[in-house]
Amino acid sequence: MTRTIGQAGKQTASKPLLRALEGQVTSRVPIWLMRQAGRYLPEYRELRARAGGFLDLCFNPELVAEVTMQPVRRFGLDGAILFSDILVIPYALGRRVSFMEGEGPALEPLEDESSVEKLSLDRLHETLSPVYEALDRVSGELPPETSLIGFAGAPWTVASYMIEGGTARDFGMAKAWAFRNPVAFERLIAVLVEATAAYLVRQAEHGAEVLQIFESWAGALAEREFERWSIEPVKEIVLRVRQACPDVPIIGFPRGAGYGCLRFAAETAVNGISLDPSIPLAWAAREMQHRCTLQGNLDPALLLVGGEPMKCETERILSEWARGPVIFNLGHGVVPATPPENVTALVEIVRNWRM
Ligand code: CP3
Repeated sequence: MTRTIGQAGKQTASKPLLRALEGQVTSRVPIWLMRQAGRYLPEYRELRARAGGFLDLCFNPELVAEVTMQPVRRFGLDGAILFSDILVIPYALGRRVSFMEGEGPALEPLEDESSVEKLSLDRLHETLSPVYEALDRVSGELPPETSLIGFAGAPWTVASYMIEGGTARDFGMAKAWAFRNPVAFERLIAVLVEATAAYLVRQAEHGAEVLQIFESWAGALAEREFERWSIEPVKEIVLRVRQACPDVPIIGFPRGAGYGCLRFAAETAVNGISLDPSIPLAWAAREMQHRCTLQGNLDPALLLVGGEPMKCETERILSEWARGPVIFNLGHGVVPATPPENVTALVEIVRNWRM
């Protein structure tokens, strides 16, 4: 089922996450967590063991819907993030992608320009159709106050996986490509812009009410390369998605960009900016909150530890940020060793907090 988009406004009143992304200061601060579904949850581990490979799970609409809902049911979060991975895009462009238990992702690395020319968008939506079906299912199941979040990786981050063949240590290969052969690298980025924008628009058409773009490796780029390989492509994606679905808010996550997050937010014109734990709270509120909603930025290690240290920092973030539009989140994903009870406690702290 494809629905007409641009009707998010009608739903906004009852959904704190959408209200915050419209720039409203909400009495209930919305909370969701990056990697809120995953190995720290026993119900995920149980289902994962039955699903076969990780990609088999990502392309099984029924199981994706179930895993997406698990943390929402358990913790009553304000956002349900689609369970998937940023690496479904290289896969849908015809590259081999696999996930080895405990080893992270492995991709068949791009060799040279000719392999960029062979990337094909022809089967993009056909390959990704189980994702769209999963979104249809979840949007029918969500509690009325919960918002459905779709996502994709930003072109630089996804390109780095495609060139390096996995998670990079120093980005030597990806950067060598970009500097030695900027024309071929630009072509790769252009293909990723096109695929990612088309993918995000489809997600919105299938019920995603918010879209997040993960630039997980923003921190690897120097100033000029950050502008060229991160900000410019993300800005183009935002423009294309807005053209097709103007009412769907977009959150950008330039992890590790430091003070560069300000330029990223201003130039891409995202509605929300997700900040990693290194970003100073008062600076972010002063420099960015007048133009976009702040999201973040609790250190995932504090969620792992729980107790007083977690409570103390959570309240500090809220007191610095909650005078303006804010979404509570981590500064990066939940780590697998996190006790689920700490998430329950975190949600309670955020729910009970008053200015
Ligand atoms: O947030 C959520 O709950 C939605 C699910 C989600 C996953 N990956 C599931 C996943 C999201 C939003 C992602 C995004 C993603 N994937 C990013 C950007 C965010 C970030 O963390 O910076 C990146 C860089 C990837 C690439 C990726 N996928 C890596 C490096 C790994 C291995 C690391 C690990 O934790 O094992 C994956 C695999 C992956 N993606 C898992 C999950 C739950 C673990 C696989 C498993 O269950 O066996």
